[in-house]
Amino acid sequence: MSFYVTTPIFYGNGDPHLGHAYSTMAADILARHMRQRGEDVFFLTGTDEHGEPIAQAAEKQGITPQELVDRSAGRFRDMVGKVNATNDFFIRTTDQGHIERVQAVVNKVKENGYVYEGTYEGWYCPRCADFKNENEIGPGDTCLIHEIPLDRESEQNWFFKLSAFETELERLYEENPERIQPDFRRNEALAFIRQGLNDISLSRSQISWGVPLSWDPDQVMYVWFDALLNYYTALGYASGEEDLTDRFWPASWHIIAKDILKFHTVYWPAFLMAAGIEVPQRIFIHGYLLMGDKKMSKSLGNVLDPFEVIEKFGADALRFYCFREVSFGQDGSISTEGFETRYETELANDFGNLASRTLAMVTRYRDGVQPDAEPDPLLAADFDGAPARIEALLDEAQLSQALEEIWVLVRRLNRYVEEAQPWVLAKNEADAARLDQVLYSLTEGLRIVTLLLHPWLPESTAKLLEALGQEDLGLAGYGSRAGGTKVEKTEPLFPKLQE
Ligand code: MSP
Repeated sequence: MSFYVTTPIFYGNGDPHLGHAYSTMAADILARHMRQRGEDVFFLTGTDEHGEPIAQAAEKQGITPQELVDRSAGRFRDMVGKVNATNDFFIRTTDQGHIERVQAVVNKVKENGYVYEGTYEGWYCPRCADFKNENEIGPGDTCLIHEIPLDRESEQNWFFKLSAFETELERLYEENPERIQPDFRRNEALAFIRQGLNDISLSRSQISWGVPLSWDPDQVMYVWFDALLNYYTALGYASGEEDLTDRFWPASWHIIAKDILKFHTVYWPAFLMAAGIEVPQRIFIHGYLLMGDKKMSKSLGNVLDPFEVIEKFGADALRFYCFREVSFGQDGSISTEGFETRYETELANDFGNLASRTLAMVTRYRDGVQPDAEPDPLLAADFDGAPARIEALLDEAQLSQALEEIWVLVRRLNRYVEEAQPWVLAKNEADAARLDQVLYSLTEGLRIVTLLLHPWLPESTAKLLEALGQEDLGLAGYGSRAGGTKVEKTEPLFPKLQE
């Protein structure tokens, strides 16, 4: 089965921060998990490089827009690598391959009769690149999101007949509620649609930094349509030779945050319907990571720098913390103190110690060979069906619930050590068979949780799996590998923090 997951493409006029890293890590966790299941995976991320804010930022810095986006694309690529994301392609909306395909799709929308010429008169937020409805306007004609004055715009441009898709969109989500997750976000999308949809500008005439319309090159495409189309166009040229569209479209999951819900759940499927292209299967809308109770943003100056955290603790710790601390889908606060606590208690103690104790005992009592024995039935009940449960949760992109399920098993294994007391069994030759069973079961349990944890903790689990003599990453059930494998001790996976 094919599995195609995307992140938003980030604005090419800023620096990457933890919020961007968060969506990237989320998509990567799903991509890695699906690869473990043997699915045919494609994972896309990239940068959104057209539009007014970028042209303005370049002008301020005295460079060309192209120079500006080249620099920031480099920084975003770097972020993707640092969080250890395994994207298959990094799209930039200034790619020639993207531009050509955007033009082809928009031509199709026009051919199909959903484009007309008109005058736009209304309020526009340059930071959102969004035309605001009455109920999206704050006091004194300001943007509710950015709290800046809106621009009154009046210009001749091409319009997209969004209104023609009201009924079809409503039906899409009523009949297939799973398409937008979590459920409360679907209700937001439906409420927006049910208010009635106005047609929207498809092009802008006062901006030149964008994709020109082929039938009217004085106008450039409205940046949101240009940006949204990345998910579709990338498949056409990402691999060079092979067009991957048939293999991966429609996307399995678009991962986004709540700030861009309307664009993804309303504008995007409507535009695809107008072009006669299948709509994406599902959209997961996560919340915001907050510092205290504030949104993390560059303009508010309260950004927890993912690069610093990774430098000090490694990408695994960041990947773990974000999905453990904040339930994926909800808003949640993060903090340096919270990070350090989870690092110590959960990564270093619960998981790291379990691994080092287990490997140390097998080394000490059985010369580093996992004994061959019947799996202890005491653990079987807890491990029964575990991979299938995790798979089912990840099919719903429930990243935090899945992690919690795995952590229950990590804790169960720690309790098992305490209950079984292998160090006592080791003192008495008569307990040799029982010690074999305990060490077999413990090592086997550790192997299972390590495989399951791999998407969140790719680096440390890779080390641990090597130490466990486990070569492939395929998910496995408790008791599926017989004993006899040579294991090795490892360095602490999560070294204690130095003051
Ligand atoms: N360029 C558009 C997206 C176009 S997609 C076709 C854009 N870019 S952005 O750089 O502003 O990125 C917004 C996205 O960054 C959010 O939807 C979310 O994925 C991520 N986040 C930004 N700040 C965030 C938090 N504080 N917390 C969680 N995610 C955040 O919008």
